[in-house]
Formats: sequence, structure tokens, C-alpha cells
Amino acid sequence: MTDSPPANASSATAAPLIVVNGIEVIYNHVILVLKGVSLQLPERGIVALLGGNGAGKTTTLRAISNLLRGERGEVTKGSIELRGERIENLSPADLVRRGVVQVMEGRHCFAHLTIEENLLTGAYTRADKGEIAANLEKVYAYFPRLKTRRTSQAAYTSGGEQQMCAIGRAIMCNPSIVLLDEPSMGLAPQIVEEVFNIVKDLNDKEGTTFLLAEQNTNMALKYANYGYIMESGRIVMDGPAQELASNEDVKEFYLGVGGGERKSFRDVKSYKRRKRWLA
Ligand SMILES: Nc1ncnc2c1ncn2[C@@H]1O[C@H](COP(=O)(O)OP(=O)(O)OP(=O)(O)O)[C@@H](O)[C@H]1O
Ligand SMILES: [Mg+2]
Repeated sequence: MTDSPPANASSATAAPLIVVNGIEVIYNHVILVLKGVSLQLPERGIVALLGGNGAGKTTTLRAISNLLRGERGEVTKGSIELRGERIENLSPADLVRRGVVQVMEGRHCFAHLTIEENLLTGAYTRADKGEIAANLEKVYAYFPRLKTRRTSQAAYTSGGEQQMCAIGRAIMCNPSIVLLDEPSMGLAPQIVEEVFNIVKDLNDKEGTTFLLAEQNTNMALKYANYGYIMESGRIVMDGPAQELASNEDVKEFYLGVGGGERKSFRDVKSYKRRKRWLA
């Protein structure tokens, strides 16, 4: 268990794409939400950022994509680097041009636009029409469902299709990394599998790095190579996804094994101490 970035986040991927180093985030000048968060996101990695309500997952994503300002938030300590270059003062549009794209929680498709029009809005940083057309075909190859729904208004498509549309729109920017905020939220398990399989496919074939902020620990650890667990604005545990998935404390608290009154990962520890004490 450590607060510092892991030395080797994935055996297949050495150089980190993004390094988040001890960041603090404050909202409205007073509300301290992130209290020294460090992460490494390797090239071609899939990293899960796990934790319950209010743990700070979305805030961490917003800090990386610099979508904090609209929320009256700011990084007040620490640094964020993209391929060794500081990025915490770049605008969200500059970050998109450098390949850092966030898919926000709740999907945010334009309801009155068709699926294809939504996808094309993702290409706003690019001018070459031939490239945009080729990208659209690429997105359709990964998301065949979107191709069949290309002329449907987003408002009339399913939650799964809207999530696919939101990810497809991010892919239209040719990103190096996609920050996905709760992609599984509100979706049936088989649709979550479908979405995550496409994420894995994009990661394999395009080399896109993904950071998955998820409360669905089980599913996220199944697809990620590495995971971080957050609580109250701090990383409380990190490790290779398979190790986290088989860790007894993670299983007990996040995978619902056992029951009772515990409200946090730390509570699991005190509960276990108490269990030993009472035994
Ligand atoms: N714009 C904001 N202004 C003030 N406080 C905020 C703002 N956004 C989030 N917070 C607070 O920051 C903390 C972390 O919130 P955040 O949304 O990052 O958590 P999360 O892990 O994404 O939670 P969830 O799983 O519910 O989405 C919470 O206490 C939340 O109330
Ligand atoms: Mg969130």
C-alpha cells in the first residue's frame, strides 16, 4: 500500500504517458478534496481508478483534463506531466490537441443530434476532411452498433449506445488517452461487457491508454492492468489489477463479500482488528 506512484505500473509498458505527482485540489478556494494524489498512467495501459461516492475520482479526472476551472476548482499543489512535460496550466482544448480527452459521467451526447453528428463534433480540433471521414469509419468498425444507428437522434438511442457514442466521439480526436468517468453507470451487465470489450480492443489495436473511474470494481479490474483505490481524496491502495481483485480486503469491502456496517475500506481494517480482538 503506497501513496507514491508504482515503479512499474504494467510490465508491458515502461514509459509513463501521464504522471500525477502529489496533487491537491481545492474547490471554491476552501474545499480541499484531493489531498496529495499520485498516479502513473503508462503508455498503452488500462488503469482503473476505484472508490465509492465522493472519493475524488471525478475530481482526479478533471484535474488531468483541466476541466476543474468550470467547477471553480484548482490544482494547488503537485504536478501533472504528459510525456515529461507539465500540463496542469494548459487549457482543456490544448489538452485535447495533445491527445488527452475526457468522457464525462452521464455521457453527455447532444440529444437532438444524430449519432453521426455527435461523432463529428468530436473532430472539432481537426480540419482534414479525408482524415475525419477515415476516422468515422474507424469508429464504426469498433462500434458496429453505432453504424446501424448513425441516423438516429441520440435522444432515442439506448444508454449503452449513448455511452458508445460518447467514447466514439472521444476516439474521433485520435487521443493518446481517454479518461472515462463511470462508463458502466446505469447499464445492464452485458452492455457493460460490450462497452469494456470495445475499450480493450481500442487499447490493443490503437494503443490508446484508458483511465477508468469506476464504482464497478469487479468489472473494471477484469479489464484493467493496474488499479488505484481512492478514499476521501487519497489513494489508499494500488497494484496490478489481478492482485487487487484477489486481495481479501478489496473483496470484502468492494466486491461485497461479507456484510455489515462498514462504510469504508479503512473501516475494513478496524473491523478486522476488532474481529481478531473479540475472537
Ligand atoms: N464543484 C464542486 N464544488 C465543491 N465540491 C465538490 C465539487 N465537485 C465535487 N465536490 C466534492 O468533492 C468530493 C469528491 O467528489 P468527486 O465527484 O470527485 O467524487 P467521485 O469519486 O467521482 O464520486 P462519485 O462516485 O459519486 O462520482 C466530494 O466530497 C464532492 O462533494
Ligand atoms: Mg464521479
